[in-house]
Amino acid sequence: MSDIRSSYTDDINFYRGWSARSLAERYGTPLYVYSEAVLRARCRELMAMCPVEGFGVNYSVKANTNPAILAVCREEGLTVDAMSPGELYMDELAGFGPDKILYISNNIDPEEMRSAIARHLTVSVDSLAQLELYGSLNPGGDVMIRINPGIGEGHSDKVITAGKETKFAISPELLGEAFALLEKHGLRLRGVNQHIGSLFMQPDGYLKAAGILLACVKAFPRKLRDQIEILDFGGGFGIPYRKYDGEARLDLKALGEDLARQCEAYRQETGYRGRFLVEPGRYVVAESGILLGRVEAVKNNGENRYAGTNVGFSVLVRPAMYGSYHDFEIYAERQEDRPLMEQTVTGNICESGDVLAKKRLLPEIKEGDILGVLDAGAYGYAMASTYNQRLRPAEVLIREDGTLQLIRRRETFEDLAAALC
Ligand code: LLP
Repeated sequence: MSDIRSSYTDDINFYRGWSARSLAERYGTPLYVYSEAVLRARCRELMAMCPVEGFGVNYSVKANTNPAILAVCREEGLTVDAMSPGELYMDELAGFGPDKILYISNNIDPEEMRSAIARHLTVSVDSLAQLELYGSLNPGGDVMIRINPGIGEGHSDKVITAGKETKFAISPELLGEAFALLEKHGLRLRGVNQHIGSLFMQPDGYLKAAGILLACVKAFPRKLRDQIEILDFGGGFGIPYRKYDGEARLDLKALGEDLARQCEAYRQETGYRGRFLVEPGRYVVAESGILLGRVEAVKNNGENRYAGTNVGFSVLVRPAMYGSYHDFEIYAERQEDRPLMEQTVTGNICESGDVLAKKRLLPEIKEGDILGVLDAGAYGYAMASTYNQRLRPAEVLIREDGTLQLIRRRETFEDLAAALC
């Protein structure tokens, strides 16, 4: 029996023969459901995007750190980053060794820096102060520096990480001082990285920033330039969140080919033999995840119709935090066509900002329906909280052969109390 709105997942066989309703029943809601097939397809697309020797994909795990997801990425040949001891812990649980992890740090304390050094990780620092700290803790060691190319991009001011208004990276005009610190501590410059921001759908800014990075490194003193083994251009590749509006995809292949041309030219001009990395988070995992919730109460307040669900912003914060758009599917037996109407979809948190979608034109949503929030695999569970003392949900991975694997159980009240003294 077909569902009210499910053509997207039907077309890609997301649920591998299971119905979303049966998964909701079996594991309860809210529930994050992931597709191994979609995840592998995205990994492969990324690994093949840039035809240049030394190209690699360094998955930025902040988007989703479940070790089962990370293990799939490892099998597909991706390396990973970490930006906190917790992310590092998850990387290690998933079987990544220190040579497969870049520690992309920002404002970390000496203990964290010491621990990264002790584990033989390649650390990227993003200020002169942190370079000084690194040098004092690990004289003669290898280090990376993060550069601000002066161009930022992103879906919200909150996620633009380069340009004039950003806490990140070292400004090119301070590079002379950075080089002096390298010299002072006898450090070897293992690599240079940047990240301009999160979610762009046109490649131009990224490619321009890549060109700026390459030109900048080309102008480094020869001795330093020749030490470099890693050039990391960052992530930010957008995915089409408006699935039911037929939003176009980012042309990853065109981006990769242009990037390859730039890298090849750099290689020829400088004799570089190292790696060229991209560092996507969202692109790897977003589309592999769907968040299932249940519609608990539908009502009219004044002019507005509200569909109240159990997906509060403690479970998925992106709409409340950035005004982000996620598309929906509606899983309920199609007994008759439901009229399209404007509906505001809300959660169960005690704040009026707990809105998943505002005045969205959707088929009439009814109590008891299971709602699928699409493209929830990135920055979904990873940003979930226990606000209002709501328990964080479970996560289920649908393997390529259709096997279901619970990869994280739902939290319990004991989990809420676990750190109390
Ligand atoms: N590399 C670095 C150094 C980063 O800071 C980030 C993301 C990435 C790579 C991966 O960016 P991506 O490819 O996922 O765009 N919570 C926000 C996104 C924050 C991104 C932070 N940095 C959201 O839900 O949209």
